[in-house]
Amino acid sequence: MDSQGTSLAALRAHPKSIEIQEYLSAKLSVGRFQHVLSVQEVAVDLARAHKADVWHANLAALLHDSAKWMDTQRLYSEVERYGIQLDSVEKLNPSLLHALVGAELAVEKFKVTEFEVLEAVRKHTTGSPSMGIISQVLYVADFAEPMRTHSDVHVIRKLAYTELECAVHQVALAQIEHLLRKGRMIHPNTLHTYNEMFTNINS
Ligand SMILES: [Fe+2]
Ligand SMILES: [Fe+2]
Repeated sequence: MDSQGTSLAALRAHPKSIEIQEYLSAKLSVGRFQHVLSVQEVAVDLARAHKADVWHANLAALLHDSAKWMDTQRLYSEVERYGIQLDSVEKLNPSLLHALVGAELAVEKFKVTEFEVLEAVRKHTTGSPSMGIISQVLYVADFAEPMRTHSDVHVIRKLAYTELECAVHQVALAQIEHLLRKGRMIHPNTLHTYNEMFTNINS
C-alpha cells in the first residue's frame, strides 16, 4: 500500500493491523502490548521522516514481540518446529529467541512475505551490521520508545530523526554496556553493529 501520508490511526484501522493487534492483546501482558503500540508509533514516525516504507515499519513494529508471550520451553520447541538454526550464543540465551520465532510466526500466522519486515523482526534484539532501513528504524524504536526508562532514551530518539546510523550506534553501545554490567554474553551481531555504524559515521 502507498502509506507515506497515512495517519497512525488509519494504519491501526487496516484489517491486517487489526488482526495482529487482536492476537497481541490476547497473548501479551498489558504492559508488553502498550510497549508494542509505543514502538509502532515511533517506528511509523521515524519511517515517515526517513521516507522509508511506513506500512512496512507498521508491520515490523506490530510483529516484533509477537512471540514474547512464550516461555522458554515453548520457544525452544518452536525453534525446533520451524527448523531454525541457532548459533552458540542464541543456544544459551533464550531471551534472543522471540525475535527468530516471531519472524516465523509472522510468515505462518499472518502471511507476511515482505523481506524487510521479516528481517527487522528477526534482527530487532541483537542488531546486525547489514540492517536495512526498516530494521534500523525498529531497532531504535524498540530501545527508545517513550515508555522505556533508560536515561538516554530521549537523546537517542531525537538523534534518530536526523542521524539514524548514529542512533543505531548508540543503541548498540547501550546494549553492550548493559550486558557487560550484567555479566551476560554479547551476541557478535551487536558488536558488529557497533563497529559497522562506527565506521559509517566516521568515514
Ligand atoms: Fe523484543
Ligand atoms: Fe520490544
